[in-house]
Amino acid sequence: AVPNFKLNNGVTVPALGFGTYAAEGTVGKGAMRKPVTTALEIGYRHLDCACIYRNEDEIGEGLRDFLINNPSVKREDIFVTTKVWVHLFEPEDVEWSLNASLKDLGLDYVDCLLLHWPFAAERTEDYEVKRNSEGKYIIKQSLTEDHKPTWTAMEKLCNSGKTRSIGVSNFRIEHLDNLLRFATIKPVMNQVEIHPYLPNTELLEYCWSHDILPVAYSPLGSQENVTERLMEDKNLMEIATTKGVSLAQLLISWGIKRGYAVLPKSANPERVKNNFHFVGLSDSEFEAVQKVAKGRHTRMVNPSFFGHNMWPEESA
Ligand code: A2P
Repeated sequence: AVPNFKLNNGVTVPALGFGTYAAEGTVGKGAMRKPVTTALEIGYRHLDCACIYRNEDEIGEGLRDFLINNPSVKREDIFVTTKVWVHLFEPEDVEWSLNASLKDLGLDYVDCLLLHWPFAAERTEDYEVKRNSEGKYIIKQSLTEDHKPTWTAMEKLCNSGKTRSIGVSNFRIEHLDNLLRFATIKPVMNQVEIHPYLPNTELLEYCWSHDILPVAYSPLGSQENVTERLMEDKNLMEIATTKGVSLAQLLISWGIKRGYAVLPKSANPERVKNNFHFVGLSDSEFEAVQKVAKGRHTRMVNPSFFGHNMWPEESA
């Protein structure tokens, strides 16, 4: 069975979630509707969404299809996360963003609302991202340096019941340190890229020591801008083969055993099914994966909209 984690506000979250970011070019064509239904049928009870993925309407349809056909499962049995994109960090825009997500998802609350990145950018009058002449985001300095106004708006939404929890994503230690200085509601989670090529050990230790649950995106290794593919790692493949599990199952189970929730993502029903599997790892199997991770710090996708590296090299 898939274990759960308890968040610092007492809410329970399944350790294995379904990522819904869809490949460029598939958005708006209903590409996520079926995979979401499939994932729920397989047993996933944790969906990771974001307004910037531009497919929350498809996810809402998939979720609705599933709930209609499976009356024994209730909305409250499913943990749904969504995120506020960086151009909506003005306090009054945060609620606008959540309202838009709720409408698309067809829900009256989400289980967790995250700030998607620790920086803020400008928006246009019609709530789109504003870009400069080079097509880059225009960083909003004040809200990037001081997250308090945005976080206070998040806290209000939490108190209003539109979201059960609030958290952050892609925050580094210095961002969390700053946030914890003024937060009256602590973030329940920090969602970041974590896998053996980006073990993020210092950040994990910081999160655990502050009772913030780390949540791993790209637990199978990022597919973008990488020179080495984690899923082709010979040592890892050998560990998985010897154990008689798939490499994805090994990586998912290793992450959960390390102490964080993982969000594998696939549009392929066979792989969606294969990934929903937690296997116990012996100490030596766990250590063997740790050994692959040791000293690694392949930085995550460095989105061009930043213009700077969010993840300077960090020792593992
Ligand atoms: P696919 O959708 O074809 O299954 P990330 O989260 O880092 O972007 O990576 C997810 C990628 O991993 C997707 O390209 C997905 O492709 C692939 N993937 C997901 N599950 C598996 C699996 N069990 N085996 C191999 N590749 C997988």
